[in-house]
Amino acid sequence: MNSIVLNNTNALKRRTETRAKVRRAVKGGHPEIFSDIYHEDVNLAVWQRQFSAEFKTLVNDFVIFRPDTSISIVVSPGDARSMMRREIGDPRFNDLADDASQLVEMFCCLFDLEQAGLRMRVLGDSMCPKFHADRVPCRLITTYCGIATEWLPHHAVNRRKLGSGSVGQSDQESGLYKREADIQKMASSEVALLKGEEWQGNRHAGLVHRSPAVPLKQCRLLLTLDFGS
Ligand SMILES: [Fe+2]
Repeated sequence: MNSIVLNNTNALKRRTETRAKVRRAVKGGHPEIFSDIYHEDVNLAVWQRQFSAEFKTLVNDFVIFRPDTSISIVVSPGDARSMMRREIGDPRFNDLADDASQLVEMFCCLFDLEQAGLRMRVLGDSMCPKFHADRVPCRLITTYCGIATEWLPHHAVNRRKLGSGSVGQSDQESGLYKREADIQKMASSEVALLKGEEWQGNRHAGLVHRSPAVPLKQCRLLLTLDFGS
């Protein structure tokens, strides 16, 4: 079979798979919503939590105190609290370390993991400005402060325009989505589970998302958790 026929066959297969899959987002006010990620047709589960005024102040103080934060560690539910307190390195911010460690416990419990890869960073610009789906089974993302992650509903995405399919055009120009109103925005403080391309049966259906443009002189405090290391 020559390469043109093979490419056309692969493209047809991808279109058929993409069309056949239906995916939806679920949201709720309790972390129990996370168990819905196990539904085949769910590729995003959002816990719509809210912070107290005291915790918001603590987070804002933290990014002023540690604007260069870039933590990348492998943690277990048993050691996440002590490791995060040590990484953050100031008892004034213990509540932030403890919040992150509680998310580690939830994440590991939900997916029966012994360890998770944790990254916490202060970001002053967009880390992944183009829409994409992650090549992971599932990733937890939360923005403690600043502008939060943007995403597209599965039905609103023309997946042929992802990656090299955009042929160098911006997402706005390429036809990846039809209307600006299709772009959904998470809120800071919300915790999201983004199902990726490597989740079994989820190829061509991973949640499409991007880092938002960070307004001038602002920043974000972002936490992500991944399977294993
Ligand atoms: Fe991503």
